[in-house]
Amino acid sequence: MTTSSFWYEDVGLEKRPPLAADAQCDLVVVGSGIAGMSSAYEAARFGWRVIVIDRAETIGGVMTPRTTAHLATELDDYYYYLIKARSEDDARLYHESQVAAVNRIETICRDEGIDADFARLEGILVPAEPAHMRDLQQEYDACRAIGVDVEWLDQAPIPLPDGTRALRFPNQGRFHPLKYIRGLIAAVEGRGGKIHGGTVYVDHQEEDGGVTIETEAGHKIRARAALFATNSPVNDKVTIHTKLVPDRTYVIAGPVPKGSVPDLLIWDTLEAYHYVRLQPLGETEDLLIVGGEDHRSGMANDMDERFAHLETWTRERFPSFQGARYRWSGQVMEPVDFMPYTGRNPGNRNIYVHTGDSGQGMTNGVAGAINFAALLFEQKAHFAELLDPARKPVAGTSLADFVSGRAEDVANLSEYLTGGDVASVDELKPGEGAIIRRGTAKIAAFRQDDGTVIERSAVCTHVGCIVHWNGLEKCWDCPCHGSQFQPDGQVINGPAIRPLAEAD
Ligand SMILES: Cc1cc2nc3c(=O)[nH]c(=O)nc-3n(C[C@H](O)[C@H](O)[C@H](O)COP(=O)(O)OP(=O)(O)OC[C@H]3O[C@@H](n4cnc5c(N)ncnc54)[C@H](O)[C@@H]3O)c2cc1C
Ligand code: FES
Repeated sequence: MTTSSFWYEDVGLEKRPPLAADAQCDLVVVGSGIAGMSSAYEAARFGWRVIVIDRAETIGGVMTPRTTAHLATELDDYYYYLIKARSEDDARLYHESQVAAVNRIETICRDEGIDADFARLEGILVPAEPAHMRDLQQEYDACRAIGVDVEWLDQAPIPLPDGTRALRFPNQGRFHPLKYIRGLIAAVEGRGGKIHGGTVYVDHQEEDGGVTIETEAGHKIRARAALFATNSPVNDKVTIHTKLVPDRTYVIAGPVPKGSVPDLLIWDTLEAYHYVRLQPLGETEDLLIVGGEDHRSGMANDMDERFAHLETWTRERFPSFQGARYRWSGQVMEPVDFMPYTGRNPGNRNIYVHTGDSGQGMTNGVAGAINFAALLFEQKAHFAELLDPARKPVAGTSLADFVSGRAEDVANLSEYLTGGDVASVDELKPGEGAIIRRGTAKIAAFRQDDGTVIERSAVCTHVGCIVHWNGLEKCWDCPCHGSQFQPDGQVINGPAIRPLAEAD
């Protein structure tokens, strides 16, 4: 991917060498983002020998360095929706999981001496238009019903549409995600854990009392338990993926004079909502970080326009914003009923999975780790049933939205029959990619800077949807379940494990 986040530019990611031989441990974790590293940490604390492997050479995840790291206990899809989709009891318990996650991050920072710029602050939900007051009223009522601390605000930190009010949620949080991940790496390794980058999971077997993981290089890791924390699960081809939809979201960040923007989490009520926070930069400046402009992955290629919209929106509300110094994008996995799938993998005894974070993977990843540790060490797992990856979708609003999301998968199948984006590779400029039809085949073609063209099959190696060109990140996105491939077809992101095939 071509863009990189402020966090990455600020502190970077550490590298670790690939696994070079067969190994044995108590727990193997596949994926070193917030979910994988948080879970590895909890197991290492209990004295388990942990091995973490990651496809990337760097440790810290693919989406984790692209986050904006709001630590919100308020649900971005609204508790009133969750109550409709599930129940008041479930919404109350889910809120407890988010509170537990923020508390856990604060405790780990303190216990491990991690200076990750953690701060408690208020969250403000502002209506984008007067008609959205209905949503806010319903959310207010839902929050009061389940015991979430919330109050009305007549004045908000950004101008409110006439005749509207905002909602204020105390005791939310924010931190620097990569300073935190670096702290977790040190804490896991300090307890004897091993971490390997450039080590790709390709297969596994569960047998009595354990799991064996196979890597692309042919090494085996034998463990008592395995956790798949690969953002989009690589251990399961279909089941969980029918309950997830991948969305791409965009972020700009630029300096503002210190004190000109209040240190709050702010978000609005648009379907692709704006989300805003500050990151302290120095004595005179803060960094204003603004996200939004989401769409279904692979279904838009107008990223310049989306960044321009974000910039206009930001300048209109924060006149001290001095222009975007950083621009990046990333992908979130939207679950059918607003909550992540985290816990024992359906049908397995010693295999666990974490996915479906929506836009709240910082808190969900840590709540997942709390739940995972409770299941692993056979303690009372308060959130296990609520977040069970095997839970069934429920009827209601969420399902209607979700079915429309899944309609994209069906539409994608018809792409086997349609033409390409361009008639031939001659139309491609250096640095551009496009889908081309050749006979019955769809080809993913990319022209390199030296003028040569790389051609790969456009059929995603997960379960066969046609990939789409992402002109911003210069990669191939699969709209069905979120796989991403480099221009030469190598995998960036699961659920695909294998590269795009050679073109016929
Ligand atoms: C722009 C943006 C803004 C966001 N803002 C917020 C926010 O404000 N608050 C919030 O709570 N959440 C936010 N999120 C969501 C949150 O960042 C993500 O949900 C979270 O980072 C996902 O973490 P993860 O550990 O599941 O995945 P990742 O960080 O992607 O880690 C998964 C790892 O698995 C590895 N992997 C994949 N396949 C294999 C394989 N076959 N073998 C070995 N390793 C493999 C990958 O290389 C990767 O390193 C945001 C996301 C984005 C994109
Ligand atoms: S990610 Fe599932 S078919 Fe591409």
